[in-house]
Amino acid sequence: MMNKDGKIYVAGHRGMVGSAIVRSLERNGYHNIITRTHKELDLTRQDQVEKFFAEEKPDYVFLAAAKVGGIVANSEALADFMYDNMILEMNVIHEAWKNNCKKLLFLGSSCIYPRMASQPMKENCLLTSELEKTNEAYALAKISGLKYCEFLNRQYGTDYISCMPTNLYGPNDNYHPTHSHVLPALIRRFHEAKEQGLTEVTCWGTGSPLREFLYVDDLADGCVYLMNNYSGNETVNMGTGKELTIKELTELVAKVVGYTGEIKWDPSKPDGTPRKLLDVSKLEGLGFHYKTELEEGIRLTYEDFLHNPMRAER
Ligand SMILES: NC(=O)c1ccc[n+]([C@@H]2O[C@H](COP(=O)([O-])OP(=O)(O)OC[C@H]3O[C@@H](n4cnc5c(N)ncnc54)[C@H](OP(=O)(O)O)[C@@H]3O)[C@@H](O)[C@H]2O)c1
Repeated sequence: MMNKDGKIYVAGHRGMVGSAIVRSLERNGYHNIITRTHKELDLTRQDQVEKFFAEEKPDYVFLAAAKVGGIVANSEALADFMYDNMILEMNVIHEAWKNNCKKLLFLGSSCIYPRMASQPMKENCLLTSELEKTNEAYALAKISGLKYCEFLNRQYGTDYISCMPTNLYGPNDNYHPTHSHVLPALIRRFHEAKEQGLTEVTCWGTGSPLREFLYVDDLADGCVYLMNNYSGNETVNMGTGKELTIKELTELVAKVVGYTGEIKWDPSKPDGTPRKLLDVSKLEGLGFHYKTELEEGIRLTYEDFLHNPMRAER
């Protein structure tokens, strides 16, 4: 169990996941939380990370900082996604180990699993066949991070773990019109369409891919739960185990936002992987289950979108 007085560093605390982890830690009575903004500490800079860890020596680390983006950002900037994420992860995990951090949680992403992995995807399908090309660089960086945790455990006996969340959504999401994930992008599109009185909105792709979504506060509770209840080299999937088509998701978002116009599809735009569902039996076997159903989560997220003035700038 994490000591309630232990010093906890949450890397990426202003992001969607990091901010939810801070909320969950606070709800669970952890009070010694340290954070740094990107401006104060650039995690891709080895000298800065070295100095920070030597000075602070955190007992526990949640690594939720990463260069993150949707299909467009990922496929346009393959080199940047690989370099920034690889360097950032190696710096943080390595300095944590050098400074005797007791436990670290590394956050990966379900895109690390092969494009044609049998569904739902189990943790042991990692590295069994080819990755999806559109986010290959990001996936390779994430695989390196989780393998580095495993190798430190095997070589030096550390207790560093990783989890693989499904698609996440919730407060502090990125609502950029082109460089965001599908759910926040839809919230923005439909909100703007409603405001402008548009009678039709065209969405990307065919609407047929199947996807799974987890509310970020549930993910954060799961991360804290794993830090207290799991040790092991194999990663742990985090999701709901439920899926819906992008078309169904689109209709649900339109309903919550209150957009009543027509929804059209542009099949010339990429769909991405045809189906992506995590097998969450390992997580449930460890005793954790998500709480927030999708419609309720979208409603909470839309409220955040309406009341969070930073949303358009991120
Ligand atoms: N969102 C999802 O659907 C999803 C799904 C599965 C897994 N994940 C994983 O969850 C983690 C966090 O994702 P997120 O959605 O919370 O992303 P996010 O909202 O973009 O947050 C990422 C955070 O990392 C910080 N950061 C990036 N580069 C940095 C650097 N060089 N130095 C210091 N800080 C830096 C960012 O600060 P700035 O904004 O100031 O740059 C931001 O606060 C990632 O590992 C991601 O793979 C996310």
